[in-house]
Amino acid sequence: MDKSSPVANAAEPRSGQHESLTITDNRTGKRYELPVTNGCIRASDLRKIKTADDDFGLMSYDPAFTNTAACASKVTFIDGERGILRYRGYPIEVLAEKSTYLETAYLLIHGELPRRAQLADWTFHITHHTFLHESIKKFLDGFHYDAHPMGMLISAVAALSTFYPEAKEIFNAESRKKQTYRLLGKMPTIAAFSYRHSLGLPFVYPDNDLSYTGNFLNMLFKTTELKYRPNPALERALDVLFILHADHEQNCSSSAMRGVASSQADPYCATAAAAAALYGPLHGGANEAVLRMLLQIGSVEKVPEYIRRVKEGEVRLMGFGHRVYKNYDPRAKIIKRTAYEVFDVMGRNPLLDIALECERIALEDDYFVSRKLYPNVDFYSGLIYQSMGLPVTMFPALFAIGRMAGWIAQWEEMLADPEQKISRPRQVYLGYGTREYVPVDDRG
Ligand code: ACO
Repeated sequence: MDKSSPVANAAEPRSGQHESLTITDNRTGKRYELPVTNGCIRASDLRKIKTADDDFGLMSYDPAFTNTAACASKVTFIDGERGILRYRGYPIEVLAEKSTYLETAYLLIHGELPRRAQLADWTFHITHHTFLHESIKKFLDGFHYDAHPMGMLISAVAALSTFYPEAKEIFNAESRKKQTYRLLGKMPTIAAFSYRHSLGLPFVYPDNDLSYTGNFLNMLFKTTELKYRPNPALERALDVLFILHADHEQNCSSSAMRGVASSQADPYCATAAAAAALYGPLHGGANEAVLRMLLQIGSVEKVPEYIRRVKEGEVRLMGFGHRVYKNYDPRAKIIKRTAYEVFDVMGRNPLLDIALECERIALEDDYFVSRKLYPNVDFYSGLIYQSMGLPVTMFPALFAIGRMAGWIAQWEEMLADPEQKISRPRQVYLGYGTREYVPVDDRG
């Protein structure tokens, strides 16, 4: 197989030309032939399957979309069985080793790696869109001192929509380009300001001399020094984490981005929705939940007891399991390596031994093996963030910064796709038929 050829749903390409599926409807005895393209039948073709002329036609029932493709995409490829992740055809391991977050963001959004001049231009524009309108600062100041940074980030991103009303022009390529610079540029600033607000520290303005990640560390941690100099190992580790989180095809938050933007909402409101989806503990909030779990376990000796509770269904082993990966998440392997690089600078995180013991037991235990539950991206990332001195509440915000590139790539792809319309699933109605309204005094 030519490694650069497009791939549809599987590791090997399908001819897709004359494949079909024959269905016999046992209710009527009729046979139907449905075309199969790229390993899929079109759900709308099922509507031809009817028991009578006035029958609505067959639908597929797929709660949580476990087996429904809602779009065709060329952005990210995942083979969950084999633990493969590629952005635009480039293996995640190669990008984590050789690329930078901004270059990877360009790749995801534009489809190709940038040439040197394109990368310089891209970096320049994103760097020059890192400042926030001063009123956003006032807005952030209105939050309670212990407001969760994700709540602040979600609200502040939505508020950007009111500052840039031209963002509504979603079919204007120049406008989209501008909003892309703003979203990528301002996400770290909003996240850092949220963190500083929670500590009661003054906001640190962006420093355009620094790299994307170096500047983020500056906005988080600068105190009295005249010039903040990020530790290169930490700067690189965070950049790698942003690359690893940059996209993951049709996950919960990217689906929220596509779903909300399909109504032609502006990208700030759609991003706020995507970030809200990410906040949940089953998605991007899992890194926070992993750290809380490790703290709750408390020591290596208590791991078997916790695993017992997981197996009895009392609690979950956070950072384990994935809807798509039924193998070791390739990002988790890279993160584990990166963690050791950070510990070399910051000292070993004492929670690491608890995490390693959880992983060791789980990888040998039939409960996890039979369900194909492996560490996911969130299992070790929290340990890195904590070692860098960040509080657990900031972890999902860090995820959101990295994922911004993917959200934009998915948004752009959706807008350019002539098959896409406003997102609107069907339902199977199982409620009452028509009922008589009973006045309140007559209800028994
Ligand atoms: N701990 C213990 N058991 C688990 C776990 C876990 N972390 N994850 C799944 N299982 C079990 C389920 O109980 C179920 O068992 P059963 O068949 O006996 O009922 C089986 O494995 C299948 O699990 P589902 O919940 O059906 O799998 P689903 O694909 O819906 O869920 C999810 C995937 C949400 C990621 C789940 O594995 C989970 O909750 N993990 C912990 C949270 C987490 O780490 N989320 C981060 C995901 S990565 C990301 O978003 C960046």
